[in-house]
Amino acid sequence: MPRATSHQEALVSNNPLVATENLKKHFTIEESLLARYLAGAKDRVVRAVDGVSIEILPGETLGLVGESGCGKSTLGRAIVGLYEPTEGDVRFQGKPLWGQGSIPKTALRRQAQIIFQNPYSSLNPRHTVRQIIGVALAARGVHPQDREAETIGLLRRVGLGADHIDRYPHQFSGGQRQRIGVARALATNPKFIVADEPLSSLDVSVQAQIINLLQELQEEYGLTYLFITHDLRVAYHMSHRIAVMYLGQVVESADTDALYENPLHPYTQALLSAIPSVDASRRANRILLEGTVPTPIDPPTGCRFHPRCKYRMPICEQEAPDLVSVQTPIQTEVAHRSAGRMGDESVNGSATEAVNEVVNGRMSNGTNDIVKNVVRRTDRTNMHGRNTEHLVRCHLHIV
Ligand SMILES: Nc1ncnc2c1ncn2[C@@H]1O[C@H](COP(=O)(O)OP(=O)(O)O)[C@@H](O)[C@H]1O
Ligand code: SF4
Ligand SMILES: [Mg+2]
Repeated sequence: MPRATSHQEALVSNNPLVATENLKKHFTIEESLLARYLAGAKDRVVRAVDGVSIEILPGETLGLVGESGCGKSTLGRAIVGLYEPTEGDVRFQGKPLWGQGSIPKTALRRQAQIIFQNPYSSLNPRHTVRQIIGVALAARGVHPQDREAETIGLLRRVGLGADHIDRYPHQFSGGQRQRIGVARALATNPKFIVADEPLSSLDVSVQAQIINLLQELQEEYGLTYLFITHDLRVAYHMSHRIAVMYLGQVVESADTDALYENPLHPYTQALLSAIPSVDASRRANRILLEGTVPTPIDPPTGCRFHPRCKYRMPICEQEAPDLVSVQTPIQTEVAHRSAGRMGDESVNGSATEAVNEVVNGRMSNGTNDIVKNVVRRTDRTNMHGRNTEHLVRCHLHIV
């Protein structure tokens, strides 16, 4: 599978195209009157997305990974305005999606599209390709006379032919149907596309073709993607950056190479170690991710990953490390060091050594001193916070 273009080449600007601010989307499951009356049952709140702040830069692909049920689809739908947030907001080109001064929904629908996991259910079976794409072209204001030519152009661009225009979805293979989904998304001439597991219903050989197509279209039209997948190999090939989601929250985000070379959060580490690998050292270090994702109705206290984390400490049951600090200098530092590159010259010498020791796995002597040193360094660089020590221990796996 091909890799995405380099991040620097892809970026159009450093102002986020899309950003979420402490975004929450909760669903309420209402109990029946009988259950309320007989058993005193109360409505339950599903905290599908529970405080997510992310930014997506124009021209880049942000991969969103995590096990099933972590809230990826809910986040993707909220980002394109299909769900109204319970709290927080989404900004598209700096404008809020909801409330005062919000971007009109018709404009948003043209600019931000979504490709769904299952092209069987997302394409109306009673509509021909002409009708399916025609609706999107009409939304862009394309004159009825011009729609046929535009539709044929789009079909050709996604690898289909003019003779496909009057066929129904059931007359296509899975891969072709997903190409129609892509053509429909392109028809409004969007800037941003959420692709929600667009490959998971396809054969592996077809998956690579759709990946190629999405990458070519990104280069050609300067598209920005939020690429949702539970497949970490696909995420690696598609994404410039990755955000890892666990139980409604983003636990780690970093450039793709840094994340794969140096997963810092224990959940990321466990997810990555589950990828079948030809690399024997990786296989030997495999960490089993035990159990399943707990229910977001009643998430664990403190760090939500603690019931499954092999590094958990008593404090983990009370508090999660400060998420603000996820992209800390430590992360950059550790990533740089293990990649054999030079770190920041302003780095305090002893702390650098300490990080080196941890990275090189020499943690037996003076582990506490190492932690203190790293904590001192992060404090010095103003990464502040009551949770710094917890974060350092968690991310450097020092229990
Ligand atoms: N409309 C809904 N009503 C109630 N619960 C929902 C709804 N949509 C999703 N959920 C729940 O929210 C959680 C996150 O779901 P989802 O966003 O689909 O996760 P993912 O895409 O990562 O598999 C799951 O526990 C799911 O059951
Ligand atoms: S070490 Fe603690 S805070 Fe870090 S992931 Fe494990 S349980 Fe969570
Ligand atoms: Mg999903």
